[in-house]
Amino acid sequence: MPRTPSGRLTGKVALVTGASRGLGYATAEALAAEGCSLWLAGRDTALLGHALSDLSKYNVSLFASECDVREPESIARMFLDFRRKHKRLDILVNNAGIAPRSTLIAKVTLEDWFNTIATNLSGPFLVTQAALPLMKSGGVIVNNLSVATRQVFAGTSAYSASKSGLLAFTNVLREELRPKKIRVLALQPGATDTDIWDTFWPDAPRQKMMKPESVARALVNAILTPADAAVDELVLNPPGGAL
Ligand SMILES: NC(=O)c1ccc[n+]([C@@H]2O[C@H](COP(=O)([O-])OP(=O)(O)OC[C@H]3O[C@@H](n4cnc5c(N)ncnc54)[C@H](OP(=O)(O)O)[C@@H]3O)[C@@H](O)[C@H]2O)c1
Repeated sequence: MPRTPSGRLTGKVALVTGASRGLGYATAEALAAEGCSLWLAGRDTALLGHALSDLSKYNVSLFASECDVREPESIARMFLDFRRKHKRLDILVNNAGIAPRSTLIAKVTLEDWFNTIATNLSGPFLVTQAALPLMKSGGVIVNNLSVATRQVFAGTSAYSASKSGLLAFTNVLREELRPKKIRVLALQPGATDTDIWDTFWPDAPRQKMMKPESVARALVNAILTPADAAVDELVLNPPGGAL
């Protein structure tokens, strides 16, 4: 049965990368529940199709693009399509990310290192650069980091380096966009029950993790705070703390 959006984000347009599943999909759903128009990005078009169909119950404008955040041409194609439908972007969620299998530094492969940096660090840079001309005063950029920016574990060098690099990028971006009144929010979730753990740490105790829907709800609440009380950093953890 179609749901009527509550309307706190009606008239706004959000683009979410890595929106096909996990935290990206949950964020897209939480935004749609507030009446926000959505543009979903991801590499797997079949999964994106399912996401579009699942979100159609919210009666909001929905589009999706195949987009690999490691590839500038792929991002350019997506924004070409985006500009045909929308003149403005209000909320950008740089969410797409990967975590290679936990491995001590001596054994990290070059492929895993470069792929993690390309996806988790260069991806948000490239997408943000392409999005900025479409963003105006009142806009919000969310970068999905991780508590790995605050607490590290052995075996997570590529992931932690990519996310700490992204935190530095996020902090500089916030200062650069302050005069334009575009807010920049550093989302730092702890362990959340998504597919990312299948590679990162397959035996991790999923029952101790947060649900992606809970993280997404907290994020949308942070996006909705009044502009004169911006949330710069949102750190979320399961009640039991780090795993
Ligand atoms: N789960 C956690 O515990 C946790 C905690 C802190 C932070 N995070 C962060 O949350 C973000 C989402 O992760 P998740 O936990 O939701 O994992 P997930 O379920 O594996 O989802 C990852 C998403 O990123 C997309 N993606 C991966 N590589 C991509 C690329 N090159 N281009 C475009 N999209 C790409 C995937 O889509 P396709 O594969 O279809 O392209 C998928 O939609 C990541 O940045 C992750 O670091 C997760």
